[in-house]
Amino acid sequence: MKLLVVGSGGREHAIAKKLLESQGVEQVFVAPGNDGMTLDGVDLVNIGISEHSRLIEFAKENDIAWSFIGPDDALAAGIVDDFNQAGLKAFGPSRLAAELEWSKDFAKEIMVKYGVPTAAYGTFSDFEEAKAYIEKQGAPIVVKADGLALGKGVVVAETVEQAVEAAHDMLLDNKFGDSGARVVIEEFLDGEEFSLFAFVNGDKFYIMPTAQDHKRAYDGDKGPNTGGMGAYAPVPHLPQSVVDQSVETIIKPVLKGMIAEGRSYLGVLYAGLILTADGPKVIEFNSRFGDPETQIILPRLTSDFAQNITDILDKKEPAITWLDEGVTLGVVVASEGYPLDYEKGLPLPEKTEGDIITYYAGAKFAENSRALLSNGGRVYMLVTTADTVSAAQKKIYDQLKKQDTTGLFYRTDIGSKAL
Ligand code: AMP
Ligand code: GLY
Repeated sequence: MKLLVVGSGGREHAIAKKLLESQGVEQVFVAPGNDGMTLDGVDLVNIGISEHSRLIEFAKENDIAWSFIGPDDALAAGIVDDFNQAGLKAFGPSRLAAELEWSKDFAKEIMVKYGVPTAAYGTFSDFEEAKAYIEKQGAPIVVKADGLALGKGVVVAETVEQAVEAAHDMLLDNKFGDSGARVVIEEFLDGEEFSLFAFVNGDKFYIMPTAQDHKRAYDGDKGPNTGGMGAYAPVPHLPQSVVDQSVETIIKPVLKGMIAEGRSYLGVLYAGLILTADGPKVIEFNSRFGDPETQIILPRLTSDFAQNITDILDKKEPAITWLDEGVTLGVVVASEGYPLDYEKGLPLPEKTEGDIITYYAGAKFAENSRALLSNGGRVYMLVTTADTVSAAQKKIYDQLKKQDTTGLFYRTDIGSKAL
């Protein structure tokens, strides 16, 4: 069987690597991918994620059994609908099902309609109305661009003035373009954040180990929001009862709701949750795997990944099994300056072998050699599994100290909340 993964980051590297380990998989293509992935035997296809007809042509010509779609913008652009119309199978939600991620207002409506616990909110396209709502509710308060904004469209405001400024930036100054033409303003929720992922087809779902991302750029959750600087799974201090409660109060009703709305969900559902004093509540839904969470969740999958996805696509019961001991932890190495401006073209350390996996994101071969150079904000990630969070941290940070990371940086406290 030959498979295609759409996307180019560490998430797609982890998906492709795991698929390649599956029995019966001869070849895994990634479009457009990055050069770092090829060190694991992945084949790159030089087609962008928005070129649906070229991707479809490639999949047909190469007898691709099915495609796994990584990024949110591809899903929001209806890539799965286009593949399906061309008679091709793809693992990911349709454009209408992916609206759970690409419109925060839609996600909120679904949650309210189907009784899923989330922060109280209002949606506004008029600045004066937004301002009046903020002034009435008081701070802290959270202002979010309605559409996709690369994880940067959320301002957790500590004062009314900050919140009003954020609404002004989005609604009047068009800071996020069309994504910010409407804003969702919501109650600030206090508690520990965690992510819950599930493979889904309709009302059938298969929960993955819990994960915790670290979204801020610097140690101690300081600095700007990023795509994610490191993660670990499972979250050891999160009791199973919280997972069970999240399944009952969040996953089941939202999937039922999507079916009732004629938007039955297929793919990975990602619930970003906060454990409040009143139980788990939803901060956001994403319609795809997380990055960097995929890189620490998939190494824990002990069953045949390609077979599992084939079964879910065919509505058969998949035999999914997970490693049930230890913790998998990963630290992202990023270009200095990320998430703002950064340099490209810095030499990268050798790929690790053995029990530390290197997943590449912004990495590219030098012009005339197979030496890898940096080529993006998040560059690579080291991932390992150990008995405890502190043992995993020690392995990764000992390795990072041995590497030349000149011009790059990483957080030194990934997983420390669990200690
Ligand atoms: P999002 O892009 O929706 O995941 O939001 C980015 C970050 O903002 C989240 O990871 C949270 O840390 C924070 N956040 C979002 N919504 C809320 C909320 N209602 N209360 C508190 N923090 C929030
Ligand atoms: N790790 C955050 C995200 O994938 O959105």
